[in-house]
Amino acid sequence: MQTTKTNLAPVPPMGWNSWNSFGAPITEADVRATADRMVELGLVELGYRYLNIDDGWQAPARVDGRLTWNAETFPSGIPALAEHVHAKGLKFGIYSCSGSRTCLGLPSSYGYEETDARTFAEWGVDFLKYDFCFLPHDIKGRPSYERMGRALRQSGRDIVYSICNWGFEDSPTWARHAGAHLWRTTYDIKDNWNSIYDLGFRKQKDLAPFAGPGGWNDPDMLVVGMRGRGNPEVVEGSEGKGCTDDEYRTHFALWCLQCAPLIIGGDLRTMAPEHLDILRQRRLIAVNQDPLGLQARNLYHHRNVQVWAKPLADGGVAVGFFNLGPKPERYCPAMLATLGFAETARVRALDLGTGEDRGVFTRYYETGEIRPHACEVVRLEEV
Ligand code: GLA
Repeated sequence: MQTTKTNLAPVPPMGWNSWNSFGAPITEADVRATADRMVELGLVELGYRYLNIDDGWQAPARVDGRLTWNAETFPSGIPALAEHVHAKGLKFGIYSCSGSRTCLGLPSSYGYEETDARTFAEWGVDFLKYDFCFLPHDIKGRPSYERMGRALRQSGRDIVYSICNWGFEDSPTWARHAGAHLWRTTYDIKDNWNSIYDLGFRKQKDLAPFAGPGGWNDPDMLVVGMRGRGNPEVVEGSEGKGCTDDEYRTHFALWCLQCAPLIIGGDLRTMAPEHLDILRQRRLIAVNQDPLGLQARNLYHHRNVQVWAKPLADGGVAVGFFNLGPKPERYCPAMLATLGFAETARVRALDLGTGEDRGVFTRYYETGEIRPHACEVVRLEEV
């Protein structure tokens, strides 16, 4: 059985992907502009290292049995683009699909796994997102994902393998053995609160045992800062507005606690500074990238507030209080014993959103006021 090379994703991968904002008409110019912005905005230095092109880069047919790029939209070609991206200090990711066509109906890798893995390695690809459309009738996805996992391992290049089968066939239970470093657990995210609630709060609840160094549950890319603009499939239902700032902050904080891959989906050329700041929260990124790699569990809820806790490598615990209700909530308690602290422990609380020291607590921690769809995330540590 294939096992993962754990060193390729000891912590959740971070980066950017073209799908949410650009969709099918992605071009080389967009990718180059995004690479520049990732550097200028300090995102690379914060750990956002992968620049991934999603569906839409391919020519409409194979040439001599090999995938090739759309020469109109990618005039320099993928290898030159990969080289450019690498020169910026970034890693380069690409997309294909386990079926006979990609979700956009373009040439795909079913039956060509070894050839395509070799091609990607030759082009300098560091990350492959592998989708789940157009599998031949009666064919299960798992063998197809295992074939590509094997082909990547034999390709001679370290390539992070991102499985995108939307959690079908219980994929979190076998994805790691298929060689995957991350695996989608849901359908596609949309830029609205219902989608964040459904994918983030409802669908990840029982998945924590599957995540850990080397392999991660993936509730899909971030919609932070999209504000209802971008790929029509992703902004559908967002009424031209998307989420509120509190909802984007909640989305980011939850993904950090859940050890979700932090793959930005917004357009970095136009994103508002306050939304970029959500993506640049060092304290929360450190929680996401904590080397212990334990995904937060939903411990309980208090009125409309869900409480999620993530133990950290240095003995601290990150705790998120998420107000999912329509009214502000105050004084939500967390018994310290429930979080793994001794009955007699004195525990200091640091607000990971504001950086504020909230003081020392015994027996239980209590939040301040939390606005509707907002959250308070603290780091608790024994003093
Ligand atoms: C599927 C995936 C998306 C995106 C599109 C591309 O819907 O789930 O993330 O890759 O295909 O066509």
